[in-house]
Amino acid sequence: MEVSAKIQEILVTGGTSGLGNNFVMAFIEKGFHVITTGRRDKYPAENVKGLSYYKVDYCDLGNVSAVMAEIAEHHSFDIIINNAGILSPNKRTLTGNGLECTFQVNFLSHLLASEILLERKKDEKPLTIASITSPVYRYSGIGRVNDEKYNAMKAYSGSKLYMALMAEYLSRRYTGVNLKCISLDPGVFSSAIYRSQTSFFGVLYRTAAPFMRDPSKVAASLSAVITREQLAGNLIYDSRGKASKIPVFDGEAEHRFWKECQELIDPFKVIRYEKFNS
Ligand SMILES: NC(=O)c1ccc[n+]([C@@H]2O[C@H](COP(=O)([O-])OP(=O)(O)OC[C@H]3O[C@@H](n4cnc5c(N)ncnc54)[C@H](OP(=O)(O)O)[C@@H]3O)[C@@H](O)[C@H]2O)c1
Repeated sequence: MEVSAKIQEILVTGGTSGLGNNFVMAFIEKGFHVITTGRRDKYPAENVKGLSYYKVDYCDLGNVSAVMAEIAEHHSFDIIINNAGILSPNKRTLTGNGLECTFQVNFLSHLLASEILLERKKDEKPLTIASITSPVYRYSGIGRVNDEKYNAMKAYSGSKLYMALMAEYLSRRYTGVNLKCISLDPGVFSSAIYRSQTSFFGVLYRTAAPFMRDPSKVAASLSAVITREQLAGNLIYDSRGKASKIPVFDGEAEHRFWKECQELIDPFKVIRYEKFNS
């Protein structure tokens, strides 16, 4: 079936659960064709109209590269929501790429995915990239990439700070693209993200669970923010639509940080999809 040129396309990463799943439903309701991703073999609901699903593992930069190249081949986005994420494990855990897993899943893989989609963008239409942060981004500064000293809370808040900073980084790097980048702070809401937590985050969740917001309401408010006609870029928006400035750090530390991140992802941009399916 031929898709009408007027149908807008959105990519929501991590759409199989929680906030991402509610974004998927909210944008299908708005008439978008929604492309979503997750680790599972299949999308949890069957026969959802207006939805395409891709399996991808953000612990594997080669897999992210291959799947995003395939997605770029078939879709042309108006909006991308970088949403997939985990809470940090109690102990420092490395991915197959040798990087701390919170840093890679919550941030670096999103940077790689966004850059691949931007570099393979085939049209001139405007694109908004919204990256999900968390209220705890405020408790972090720019750390050292893959620091062996590990603290779960710091690893999570750091990954969320980098998601917020990524809005400005991508805007600076892709000036030739019709691009607007923002970060979205959903606040705290009830979800399955706390499922594997036994210590600090688990206790926090069990204490706060009765007061947490419904993720469908958070997704509805944030989707209204993203689809605003006059949306200013390079800002962090909360679910009431209030905008805050993206924090600014010592120029040299930030420059070194982005240089190191770029060196980590660049080798994965040349991998072809066929290689990972053969
Ligand atoms: N919950 C909160 O209170 C809260 C507060 C502030 C910010 N956030 C942020 O909001 C976002 C969504 O969180 P949520 O609470 O909705 O979590 P969730 O229900 O656990 O959903 C997480 C999503 O990310 C996907 N994902 C996790 N690890 C992945 C990996 N290695 N590769 C690919 N996909 C992966 C999951 O896929 P599978 O289902 O297939 O595993 C799932 O779709 C996260 O970025 C989180 O940091 C959450």
